[in-house]
Amino acid sequence: PNIVVCEDAQAASRKVAEIIIATIAEKPASVLGLATGSTPIRTYELLVDAFRDERVDFSQATSFNLDEYVGLAPKHPQSFRCFMDDHLFKHVNFSPMRTYVPDGSAADPAAHAKLYDDEIRMVGGVDCQLLGIGHNGHIGFNEPGSLPDSRTSVVDLAELTIRKNARFFDSADQVPRRAITMGIGTILESRHIVLLATGKSKAKVVAQAFEQSPSVDLPASWLQTHDHVTVVLDNDAATVE
Ligand code: F6R
Repeated sequence: PNIVVCEDAQAASRKVAEIIIATIAEKPASVLGLATGSTPIRTYELLVDAFRDERVDFSQATSFNLDEYVGLAPKHPQSFRCFMDDHLFKHVNFSPMRTYVPDGSAADPAAHAKLYDDEIRMVGGVDCQLLGIGHNGHIGFNEPGSLPDSRTSVVDLAELTIRKNARFFDSADQVPRRAITMGIGTILESRHIVLLATGKSKAKVVAQAFEQSPSVDLPASWLQTHDHVTVVLDNDAATVE
């Protein structure tokens, strides 16, 4: 991968925002793959600023989010759909018809997941996929044990993921146990993958993901098999102590 180390989280977020802006400048009808979590929040703020400064226009773009909790309806405040509305969509000019997030309230989540993959294919695939990385090496909600050819599907969350994500809920037992996630195979079909990681707590897993041979134990390590990956780190995430 192309590894870009930035001074701090602000500079790393700016770098990722600029990659997305450049993607859309080159191809206004780009398909963006988007992520939730703490890591991309600053990037989304910078994209909102850029939109207000007329430096980016999402009117022809399409977005597909990586994942959603099974059991949370789009309107649920902890749903990833709500997260995306709050942090990005309601502040910029995506066509509402073209922002896709898996529907956690789908009657048949497995069928919905399969359809999601078909929809990505139907629009021609993802041009630029933004990823974060979990402390256990997950990408999307592809937990350790995930195969490199997995497709969008319903998965069980790892215990660690449930504990970490409890910070967004009142307590850990309110965190859904299952999610719909783009598969690793789905993610690897994106033309350009941009992984953003910031902070000391991510340093070890980032080093493992890109320095050890790809393995099911560390899902992000499959990114080594892709020929256009940009890893954007701040100094903290780039330094193993
Ligand atoms: C979010 C996602 C997850 C996060 C990862 C890191 O859509 O798919 O893989 O990217 O859990 O989360 P943060 O950024 O909160 O550390």
